[in-house]
Formats: sequence, structure tokens, C-alpha cells
Amino acid sequence: MELIAADDAGVGRAARLLRDGGLVAFPTETVYGLGGDAWSADAVRGVFAAKGRPPDNPLIVHVDERTGLASVAATVTPLAEELAERFWPGPLTVVVDAADGLPRETTGGLATVAVRVPDHPTALALLRRAGVPVAAPSANRSGRPSPTTARHVAADLAGVEGLVLDAGPCPVGVESTVVDARGTTPVVLREGAVTREQLGVPPPEGGEQARTETRRAPGTRYRHYTPSCRVEVAEPGESRARAVEVARTGARTGRVGPGPAPQGVETVATVDGADHLARVLYDALRDADDRGLDVLVVEGVPEVGVGRAVMDRLRRAAQAG
Ligand code: TXA
Ligand code: MG
Repeated sequence: MELIAADDAGVGRAARLLRDGGLVAFPTETVYGLGGDAWSADAVRGVFAAKGRPPDNPLIVHVDERTGLASVAATVTPLAEELAERFWPGPLTVVVDAADGLPRETTGGLATVAVRVPDHPTALALLRRAGVPVAAPSANRSGRPSPTTARHVAADLAGVEGLVLDAGPCPVGVESTVVDARGTTPVVLREGAVTREQLGVPPPEGGEQARTETRRAPGTRYRHYTPSCRVEVAEPGESRARAVEVARTGARTGRVGPGPAPQGVETVATVDGADHLARVLYDALRDADDRGLDVLVVEGVPEVGVGRAVMDRLRRAAQAG
């Protein structure tokens, strides 16, 4: 992929490429997306091929304003309308019935479509100038941590034909919340940057067990966010002690948590709170591999607010094998 500046000329060039059926990676407030024209089956097939993504995992369609929802939906429910009004532009993705003729590549063969208006000036300028809805998953190789910088995209998608608009690191760092908006209350399919507290939706009762039994977005079935090194999640306040213990076994060990790492352990990131961890987590996971660490110990955060999404991603990153 060719990295270009997200200035007026760069955005113009990227918008033309999208209209011509090409691929463009672009920043959103959450993570970088890899986009293609949502109405072009060929373009969307290109997105899947570039990522090595399973074909039954549908993409999020990005539009530049609320009214764009109706262009890709068969029905805009009052709930979808209300959520769009409250949270767009922003990191909330609504799932509604898909418009007739939307390529099955875009919807992963489902009768529904996921849609959002991203809250990022580059993304909005690109969508506006392209004039087409843009289907875009996170711009990582399938299974890798989502990219929060243009460099992450270039590293994962080297050899793919297309452009990367570089507008620096993403301000939020964790993906959008995906909700089913076909009924009368939102059903959370993927935890994300818009919190359950904001949505007024209580967490599933029974913790982890219940979570695996509730309905989920197709993509949450797959292995995800995984670096090559082993990731361990420590309880709040316990990551320094745990990292020392791991390092004593002879493993090259790094740590992400508040304050610097103890002696014999590499400081991969110093973080203060869940929002900060959300912002730096994916970069830290990649950095752990670049450093050649055997083990990365990450200090967990309480499962409230955005902490819920962060802990969801961390647990996936920590899943062995
Ligand atoms: O913040 C984000 O959401 C980023 C930026 C680029 O917008 N995008 C992103 O896309 O994270 P992706 O493809 O990595 O994740 C999309 C998630 C997947 O878990 C997918 O299964 C789910 O949304 N999804 C897409 N369409 C769906 C549908 N019709 N029904 C249920 N889940 C759907
Ligand atoms: Mg993804």
C-alpha cells in the first residue's frame, strides 16, 4: 500500500480510487479501516482478499451522514433513527435489515447490514468526496491487532494495491460498539467505544459464561487481536509482581500498566486508566512482537465504561493457541 498524507490532494486521490473500485485505508476515531465501495462486489472481494478475512464475516458500511443509513437499509427502525441521532458521528454501529441489491460480499450473506458515521475529519472528507458508502473492516491482516496508525496498516498489508491516508494515531483506539437495532431496545453484539452505560443496556448477567451464550457479531467468533508473544492479563494492581514472576522463569517479559516496569521487565507502555489503555493497547501488542518478547503482562482495568471493551479485546489477545 502507498502511504499518502491526508491533505486535500491526498483525500481527493483516495476518493477517486474508491469510486474506481480500488482500496483505501483511512483513519477513523476508533481504528484504521480498509475500505471499498460497498455497492461493488468486486471492490469488497478485494477487501476480504487483502485481509485474508473469512467470507462469512460481514463488513461495516461507513456513510458520511445520518441520511446515508436509508441508502443501504431496507428499513430504518425508530430505534436505529434514535441511536443515529444520539451517537453519530461516533463509534456506534447499528445493524438493520439490508437494502435490496446490496452485494452479499458486503453483508457476509446475511439479510442485515451494519452501518456507522465515523467521527474523524479525514474519514468524513473521504466519504463525502467519494460519494459512495464505504464497506470497511479494520485494516489489519485477519487475526492481528487492529491498526491504530498508518504504519500498522502498511506493515500488515504490504503488497496490497491501494492507498493509506496517514492522519496520525486514532484518538479512541478501540473499535465501535455493534448493536442490533432491529427491535425496540439495542442488543449489544460487540462491546466497543460507546459504553453500555451510555446506551442504557445492562451487562449480561453471569459474566464470561453468559457472554458466550448471548448473541454476538459473527466476527467475535474468530481468533482476534493476537500477537505472536503470549499475553497475560493481570488483576488491577498485580501486574508488576506478576511480570517479575514471569521474568524469573527466563522469559523475555514486557509490561503494560501504570508506572514503569520493575527491574528485569521491559516497559512496553505506561498507562493511566481504561481510556488510555484503549488508545495504546493495539500498538503495545504489536510492539511486544517487534521487541521479540516472549510474554507481555498487561494490567487489567475494571469492567465499567470503555473498560468492558478493553477487557474483551485483552481476553481475546490472551487466548492461547
Ligand atoms: O470501529 C470500527 O468498527 C472499525 C472502523 C474501521 O469503523 N471497524 C471494524 O470493523 O472494527 P471489523 O470488520 O473489524 O468489525 C466489524 C464487526 C465484526 O465483528 C462483524 O462480524 C460485525 O461487525 N458485523 C458486521 N456486519 C454485521 C451484521 N450485519 N450483523 C452482525 N454483526 C455484523
Ligand atoms: Mg477487525
